Amino acid sequence: MGKKILVTGGLGYIGSHVVVELCAAGYEPVIVDNLSNARASVLERLERLTQQSLTHYDVDIRNRAALETVLERTPCAGLIHLAAFKAVGESVEAPLKYYDNNVAGSVTLFDVFERAGGGGIVFSSSAMVYGDVKVFPLHEGMPVQPNNPYGSTKAMMEQILADLVNAPGAKTLGLSLRYFNPAGAHDSALIGEDPKDRPNNLFPIVVQVAVGQRETLTIFGDDYDTPDGTGVRDYIHVVDLAQAHVMALRELLNGGFEQRFTALNLGTGTAYSVREVVSAFEREMGQPLPQTLGARRSGDVATLLADPRAAAQAIGWTAQRDLPDMVRDTWRWAGAARQWGLWDDDDSAAAP
Ligand SMILES: NC(=O)c1ccc[n+]([C@@H]2O[C@H](COP(=O)([O-])OP(=O)(O)OC[C@H]3O[C@@H](n4cnc5c(N)ncnc54)[C@H](O)[C@@H]3O)[C@@H](O)[C@H]2O)c1
Repeated sequence: MGKKILVTGGLGYIGSHVVVELCAAGYEPVIVDNLSNARASVLERLERLTQQSLTHYDVDIRNRAALETVLERTPCAGLIHLAAFKAVGESVEAPLKYYDNNVAGSVTLFDVFERAGGGGIVFSSSAMVYGDVKVFPLHEGMPVQPNNPYGSTKAMMEQILADLVNAPGAKTLGLSLRYFNPAGAHDSALIGEDPKDRPNNLFPIVVQVAVGQRETLTIFGDDYDTPDGTGVRDYIHVVDLAQAHVMALRELLNGGFEQRFTALNLGTGTAYSVREVVSAFEREMGQPLPQTLGARRSGDVATLLADPRAAAQAIGWTAQRDLPDMVRDTWRWAGAARQWGLWDDDDSAAAP
């Protein structure tokens, strides 16, 4: 067996794909996930996909004693920290819930990891740390100035990690990955995005309309300063994203970075408008998608586009998958999820 890697949030949307790629690269993932936003059946599907038995601890990252026990039982060389709450709107309404889970949780987790001997920490950050910037593409040297509580939790966690690894005698190295807009699903259709509450992101909303869970897709504004007036985003396939984590971790564990803390954008460098994404889905589904024009959503920016060159240089990673891949894999996953009854009103239907 390869090196053990603690993966917090490993049963979530992105974390589950990271687990698959870790296994494929010969690492042994140790999953910590309190199931606050994941189904237990993800573990069974991951085992089916990876053809190996996986370790999962149903532990909250704020629970110091439980985390200590996990790391005593299964010492880990690395930590990929994805566990967090992620809804921007909810973070505005319940900021302390976000600071508690994301920031306080990370402090506890990082402390336990460092005291257990340290290693490499790869942290899930977000393009939200850049805030409402009007210059594109965004590169890592730009100021961190988040404009909502969720983004602030990510910026704070980056700072906390940077300070931890730069403290005298620290045993840990840190890397922050700033995701742009993750989308798509695994091409096995065994795992994918499976929102519990009302999603805020375009892909899961389109899926809900397509499968009849919502009547129409509301396009929030078509008067932005973009080619077709709708918001433009740098969508990145979740498998590309997951592979970047493994490449980053390998580099980190080999001590391959010049600094003890590094932040890298994860995007493709190509952005698509809401209308382009909708058209791609309509082509994939062979039918039109009901849509309505709404007002701009507060907090939305016109364009989010990554400059992905630093990640290419530092870890040799570039995205391999494009928008049609994201749409095809999302739609295939939606078909499987529906077939298993995952999205039926009665949530008890058995998943494979
Ligand atoms: N999905 C996106 O659009 C996006 C964009 C940028 C950054 N991110 C970040 O990526 C990470 C993963 O996002 P995701 O989309 O997979 O979300 P997700 O909700 O699917 O996954 C998060 C997982 O963490 C678990 N979790 C949450 N709080 C926990 C706690 N206190 N203890 C233990 N487990 C806990 C949840 O049960 C869930 O399985 C998050 O940190 C998120 O902020 C996501």
